[in-house]
Amino acid sequence: MSGLIPKQFIVDLIDRADVVEVVGRRVQLKKAGKEFKACCPFHDEKTPSFTVSPSKGFYYCFGCGEHGNALDFLMHYDHMEFVDAVESLASLMGIEVPREESNKRPARSYDALFELVGHVTRYFELELKTNQKAISYLKARGIDGATAKRFGLGFAPAGWSNVLDKFGTSKEAIDRLLACGLIIRKDNGKHYDRFRDRIMFPIRDTRGRTIGFGGRVMGDEEPKYLNSPETVLFHKGQELYGLYEARQALRSIDKLVVVEGYMDVIGLARHGIDFATATLGTATTDEHLNRLFRMCDEVLFSFDGDRAGREAAWKALENALRQIREGRQVRFVFLPDGQDPDSYVQENGANAFIKALDNALPLSEFLIEELAAQVDMESVDGRARMAELARPLVSRIPPGIYRELLMERLAEIVGLPSHKLKTMLSKDASTNKRQPTTQATRLHPRPAIDSGHPSIVRRAITLLIQHPEAAVNIDIEKLAGISKPGADLLHDLIETIQSDPDMTTAGMLERFRNHADGQHLGKLAAVEMPESDDFDAAAELTDCVIQLAHAAQRERINNLIEQQKLGTLTAAKKDELRELTRSSGTDG
Ligand code: UTP
Ligand code: MN
Repeated sequence: MSGLIPKQFIVDLIDRADVVEVVGRRVQLKKAGKEFKACCPFHDEKTPSFTVSPSKGFYYCFGCGEHGNALDFLMHYDHMEFVDAVESLASLMGIEVPREESNKRPARSYDALFELVGHVTRYFELELKTNQKAISYLKARGIDGATAKRFGLGFAPAGWSNVLDKFGTSKEAIDRLLACGLIIRKDNGKHYDRFRDRIMFPIRDTRGRTIGFGGRVMGDEEPKYLNSPETVLFHKGQELYGLYEARQALRSIDKLVVVEGYMDVIGLARHGIDFATATLGTATTDEHLNRLFRMCDEVLFSFDGDRAGREAAWKALENALRQIREGRQVRFVFLPDGQDPDSYVQENGANAFIKALDNALPLSEFLIEELAAQVDMESVDGRARMAELARPLVSRIPPGIYRELLMERLAEIVGLPSHKLKTMLSKDASTNKRQPTTQATRLHPRPAIDSGHPSIVRRAITLLIQHPEAAVNIDIEKLAGISKPGADLLHDLIETIQSDPDMTTAGMLERFRNHADGQHLGKLAAVEMPESDDFDAAAELTDCVIQLAHAAQRERINNLIEQQKLGTLTAAKKDELRELTRSSGTDG
């Protein structure tokens, strides 16, 4: 087939490709921590220095410097041309490669898959309308027709091949059903429906397109819920059930409450509480939190009051610490033993749940309560032990007012003067973490940014390419007026990530494949960064941006002062200079 492959298709493909699978089919990989290792297939070696990072979608060899994403691997290892590598990767993932006719609107990637899942969603919805048993089940659970409609609830009829027969009418269609996780392939090459005799909950992306399903049995069969597997459309660790519906229902979202289940979201919505969202049977991930905080500043977690609920809440707390800062609030609601938000609101009504939210425990209080429960607060030793336990947790919080306040509160509780506790807590931070970079600029007010040690721009770009998610909350305006080498590239990178926040390292490299700096970026992706447990790419990146903004401000001031000396300063620029010197004086 002729015609160009749309660029967007290729970058989407790379963002979703599994580099471990691609490499692993050709090279024996061994798991090593978060990564995989092997003896390098591109040069001769006895000890493995070839590393594959699934989260970055990227491989590199510390021995010979060979690196790249899944496409690079296919090109170098199998000696394929670029286009053949794209075809090969796409077919592995069950996707057709679209082609652009030069005078037509570019074909959009994944359209065929989204379209198919959309048709299946509507099919399930129609089936629900005629299935009395399913309707009665939902009615018995307090769900009315309007709520069912809002959430697109449906029903997958009993039988092994309803979806297969209706939608799998060609080999390509069957491949697509497989790629979406709607059918399962047997060893003998035959297929059958994944979802049978279940109430269906479509999981939608931010644009309202179904990307996967949850399916619930109506009796006591196991498993109670069956979910779509990870597919190119559906990534469990990122999706939040009910977010799309919340955004549809509310003009503006000022808070979101995270619950555990599909039925919790729906039960609450039925009672007019439209700001609930559920993780899909997984613990709360960083991506979830990024998404939540992009939407609003207040996040509440509602868990069962039993031990398991408190443990799940603690996990959420540990992740949320990295995201805490001034203006953001994280609180926890514990419902009475054995109750979930759905049963609670059915039994006690919406106001009771709202009240429980109002009384939610702030993150700091929950943290203190849990730590205090682990030690003997009556004894000096116990209180010292509590400070010890708090140490790794506090160090995850980005430096700022929130962290300061929490330390003060902790000092009060353990009965230490707050400066003493602070030294204690920060002693640890400095032994296993580099000094925060702001400290360095304070000691050397005019650092020689571009000489000697790697520049801040380079550091920022390295952080970005290795942790694209860190750029999501960066205020790009702060970068205006920076004239350092690489600043434009930095700006482009941040803008690219913000336009597509789910981007991976591999996807970034793909986007910059033909860019003048593409090769350079590939090298930065392989730079080894010391990452301790409390390493926080977003905080580090923010730090870099602040430093760059300061440098730009100084540059502007110097420039204005020059103009003043020359007597060419206009009134407006005089004001600007006054304003700039004032603001740089107060926070310097
Ligand atoms: P729960 O077991 O708490 O179910 O699972 P629930 O939401 O209260 O469901 P109902 O009220 O009995 O209908 C919470 C979530 O965990 C995931 C689902 O996302 C579910 O909503 N889960 C649970 C599964 O994925 N599979 C299961 O078998 C059970
Ligand atoms: Mn329930």
